[in-house]
Amino acid sequence: MDNLKAEVRKSFRTEMFAFGLYTVLGKQYKNFKPNFGEHLQEAGKQEHMHGRIFKHFYQKQYNIELKEEKVCIAVGKCVGHMLRPMPLNKKLKMISDNEAKVSVEIEKKIAEGGNKDYIKALKRILPDEIAHSKIYSEAFEAK
Ligand SMILES: [Fe+2]
Ligand SMILES: [Fe+2]
Repeated sequence: MDNLKAEVRKSFRTEMFAFGLYTVLGKQYKNFKPNFGEHLQEAGKQEHMHGRIFKHFYQKQYNIELKEEKVCIAVGKCVGHMLRPMPLNKKLKMISDNEAKVSVEIEKKIAEGGNKDYIKALKRILPDEIAHSKIYSEAFEAK
């Protein structure tokens, strides 16, 4: 398996996982702050859309349909439930730090160049991931 193929598949899985996770957290912390639940659910929908972008790219590039959508979403939801005892600030810090890391990686890949359609997909999702990296500070540092 070439690097790009493995990378896209992994990204697809991670995005679907994140969709499940954000969906559960959005429901659990619906009333933490006004619009907070909606904000997380919205982030989740964006992850789902990113996952679909990777799925379409994979299908076009390799003529293979990625089928683990439902199971990855289910795992994300499951982790969301398992993390329930962890304080919200710790969870959001962990998630935001990870989103920031992902954003840096995407920026690096865009700068390196390569497959045009793939770079286009990365450029499409980058602003969303940068926004997700601010979820923690918006929730706990905003005045
Ligand atoms: Fe994403
Ligand atoms: Fe994200």
